[in-house]
Amino acid sequence: MVLKLVGILISLLPLLSWSLDNGLARTPPMGWLAWERFRCNTDCVNDPENCISERLFMQMADLLVKDGYKAAGYEYIIVDDCWLAKTRDSKGRLQADPERFPSGIKVLADYVHSKGLKFGIYEDYGNYTCAGYPGILGYLETDANTFAEWGVDYVKLDGCYSHPIDMDQGYPEFGYHLNLTGRPMIYSCSWPVYQIYSGIEPNYTAIKGACNLWRNFDDIQDSWQSIQSVIDYYGDNQDIIVPQAGPGHWNDPDMLIIGNFGLSYEQSKSQMAMWAIWASPLLMSVDLRTIRNDYKAILKNKKIIAVNQDILGIQGRRIYKDRGIEIWARPITPVIRNDFSYCIAFLNRRTDGTPSEVSVINRELGLTHAGGYRVDDLYTDKDYGILSPEDKITVDVNPSGVVMLRFTVASAFQKAPYLPSAQGSQVNLFGIPAHIAHDNHKTLPQRLQWLAGFPHFHLTGLNETDIVTSNETGKLQLLQTQAEIILFLIQQQFIRDFRNWRRLHERKRLKNSGYNQANRSQNWKT
Ligand code: GLA
Repeated sequence: MVLKLVGILISLLPLLSWSLDNGLARTPPMGWLAWERFRCNTDCVNDPENCISERLFMQMADLLVKDGYKAAGYEYIIVDDCWLAKTRDSKGRLQADPERFPSGIKVLADYVHSKGLKFGIYEDYGNYTCAGYPGILGYLETDANTFAEWGVDYVKLDGCYSHPIDMDQGYPEFGYHLNLTGRPMIYSCSWPVYQIYSGIEPNYTAIKGACNLWRNFDDIQDSWQSIQSVIDYYGDNQDIIVPQAGPGHWNDPDMLIIGNFGLSYEQSKSQMAMWAIWASPLLMSVDLRTIRNDYKAILKNKKIIAVNQDILGIQGRRIYKDRGIEIWARPITPVIRNDFSYCIAFLNRRTDGTPSEVSVINRELGLTHAGGYRVDDLYTDKDYGILSPEDKITVDVNPSGVVMLRFTVASAFQKAPYLPSAQGSQVNLFGIPAHIAHDNHKTLPQRLQWLAGFPHFHLTGLNETDIVTSNETGKLQLLQTQAEIILFLIQQQFIRDFRNWRRLHERKRLKNSGYNQANRSQNWKT
């Protein structure tokens, strides 16, 4: 018995030490996802235009490009439930429904790629998907390989027909197999939401270590009531969920329903604003063939998308809530010294029919940068000029609507200062003192050019501070001096080398241990 236990522990070791390392979703993913609008309509005989079929996804891919969504940043075309045949093929592999996807998924993925877009698919960590099609339990490795062979770039893994307690092992396990394929695939998990509903407190450290995004609340429906329930959940639980978000790992409040039947124009602007404040994935679920222009403009609002995609990836918080008025704030770039720029959303949830005036001193919103802020309205383009922390901002917010302002630290618009060289500095490298022998990048342009030569880093050039994030770790640093930048780069290189080494090591170990997921499959059905 003891020996058996040791055997099991040893065979699990590679998985326990695994963590997501796919370098994807450095900013929240953007795209189009079928579920909210098209559901599980499989009736292509009577409703060929709207059924879940290869035709629908090809049309949406065409429109994503033709109507400018791709140019605005929407990139993924994602299939949801009901694409599958009811059985696996003779070799145990997943197969698409042959009537509705006659060309097969690989051809569909190739088509999406030919448009310069990426392709996503849906599965479920259980015996069945939520709509009753084959799940992945017992076939984790096979299915990860099938997705890689088909050219999948994004996997949404649902959690019906599985036991939530098993997810702590099952979700990382599938992620591990995705990683082993060598094909980068965004990994979207439903792990926390199923656990929360069965009374288990999610282990977000594990979740963000394994998934690029995760659902933690109800399925979105086509109503303002549904949007409000999400807003309340994200506000009431912000202390738990906000710290989990960051480059590579995001909270997912579910799809954008803008342009469908249930939201007014004002409410649609509110959804877009809140999803930007939260650094949420922007996954439209709407019929792009019939969407009206007003709604298209909301979805393609460049300034709001820029907030959503802000490179710092900090999720915003509710900072005020009283009598139907809420104020939400998200720190964004540019950052001067330690002062962030902010996006502030004033949300009116009153129903008393006339706009509400909200007036507040900037300092009370946490806007304390001595140099002041340039203030812009992101929906109307109204320019408020430069305001100091002591100035008052006054906005009129429509019922169930929003006013979305960007406060940009004003000194970001001033001339770049001279940057001292780090040459000759002593730095502390993992506790070891190091000496910087050469550093000739004295001016900002020189320094940026030098940093841009490192392929693994994102750069945002600012006047006084450079922001550097590693594509691989998502770690972010605000760097003031050359010495700090050099130290950061050395650390990142070290982390990368270590991860590569570990990946090779794990692969070998897995082979030697004779690990075989299929032997461990269970038969859960809830
Ligand atoms: C669950 C998910 C939804 C959708 C459906 C498909 O309810 O939360 O987003 O994928 O399953 O059946």
